[in-house]
Amino acid sequence: MDSPEVPSQSPDDSSEDRVGPVVTVRSIRTSDVSALRPILETWIRYPDTHALISEEITDVLNRAYEAAAKKGTSKYFVAETNEGQIAGMIGLQSPDYAILPLATTPQPIEMTNFYVDAELRNSGVGTTLFNMAASQALQAGFSEMIWNSGPRYRETAWGYYTHKFGEPIGVLKDYYGPTYDAPVWHFVLSRQ
Ligand SMILES: CC(C)(COP(=O)(O)OP(=O)(O)OC[C@H]1O[C@@H](n2cnc3c(N)ncnc32)[C@H](O)[C@@H]1OP(=O)(O)O)[C@@H](O)C(=O)NCCC(=O)NCCS
Repeated sequence: MDSPEVPSQSPDDSSEDRVGPVVTVRSIRTSDVSALRPILETWIRYPDTHALISEEITDVLNRAYEAAAKKGTSKYFVAETNEGQIAGMIGLQSPDYAILPLATTPQPIEMTNFYVDAELRNSGVGTTLFNMAASQALQAGFSEMIWNSGPRYRETAWGYYTHKFGEPIGVLKDYYGPTYDAPVWHFVLSRQ
């Protein structure tokens, strides 16, 4: 029988020795929210014009604030360097109905808003954030993390996801508009 205490997969930890910032991952506080804005402003842009998508940034910041204020059901975690700099964020939310059919276990949770400061990418911050979200999700009784990534992030995240979690388990057709398909990855925590 599968053990429910131990994740049945583990992201590749081969980078453990890499020199990078020392970060602590913890639940978000309301005082962290303003520090997330510059990180979001780096990544939430139209790929063609590079213009900011202000509405979406505001929406993400509002959701992060609500989670920090313990309203709603979403959970957000931030990575903080030992100098007190907010280095990245990750969120967990109830899965969108469209992604649910791709889940392979009974209690999936959707990962969302996964962003690391541009200067600190590829130094282990994202993986530290992801691992914390996974351990919290498992502790809360979820069996699987599942997420999509839109074409906007083809160059900045798809390679990372496939490297860490394998090929996508499916695709949400036209999820971000006609022809804007979103591949879906997952990480099984427990088969329950
Ligand atoms: C995706 C993201 C959160 C990952 O966080 P990160 O801190 O950069 O990732 P880490 O440093 O923990 O891990 C990097 C690993 O991925 C690998 N990797 C990164 N880009 C890759 C690519 N295009 N192809 C294959 N592997 C890749 C690195 O080689 C490294 O592997 P290793 O751990 O085996 O050495 C971060 O890069 C980011 O913020 N990207 C921009 C915003 C974004 O696209 N967010 C996702 C929205 S869905």
